[in-house]
Amino acid sequence: MTDRLRLGVLVSGRGSNLQAILDRCAEGRLSAQVAVVISNIAEAYALERARKAGVPAVALEPRDFPDREAHDRAIVEALQSHGAELIVLAGYLRILTASIFEAYANRIINIHPSLVPAFCGKNMHGLRVHQAVLDYGAKVSGLTVHFVEPEVDTGPIILQHVVPVSEDDTPESLEQRILSFEHEKYAEAIQLIAEGRVTVEGRRTRILPEESGK
Ligand code: GAR
Repeated sequence: MTDRLRLGVLVSGRGSNLQAILDRCAEGRLSAQVAVVISNIAEAYALERARKAGVPAVALEPRDFPDREAHDRAIVEALQSHGAELIVLAGYLRILTASIFEAYANRIINIHPSLVPAFCGKNMHGLRVHQAVLDYGAKVSGLTVHFVEPEVDTGPIILQHVVPVSEDDTPESLEQRILSFEHEKYAEAIQLIAEGRVTVEGRRTRILPEESGK
């Protein structure tokens, strides 16, 4: 496949979404390739997954930089030096600063494990999200893939997928059920972007029909 969209994937943890993307790229099911994986945590298992796949894995720990902006500038340099065109946040647990938004305006996406705008925002990530869904007694949850804006979890939504909550769910069981859909749906969203089929009008995105993209 030629002209594959070059992804810069930012991670902080186990990296199962990264793995799903790597697998689909390797199988030729995605018109994309992972150009670099960057983590703010050197021990993140996601970096190991990148190395195993032969993809550059970079650890940039905040404590090695004077402030958030300097840390994010180093991230931008690493992304640009590997030719990343789209930033894919896959369980990246830091808020981005202006330097990243300036360099990658409208080219940053995130996946969140709930139906935004429910159960999202600052400090809502991973199991906390699913615990909050169960505590509230919601009957459905799901996932959201969206463009990233400076406010947490607020950018235009690319796609969402509804997953039922069962009466016996624990945060862990709900997480697992949603995660398996995340792996499919994040790849689907990346493919739509790679095909040039996602347009943004204000807060709303429009998915163009097949073969109408770039
Ligand atoms: C995923 O469930 C992702 O949706 C969530 O973190 C998990 C990362 O898992 N992201 C957030 O909660 C962002 N607010 P992974 O490392 O196995 O891909």
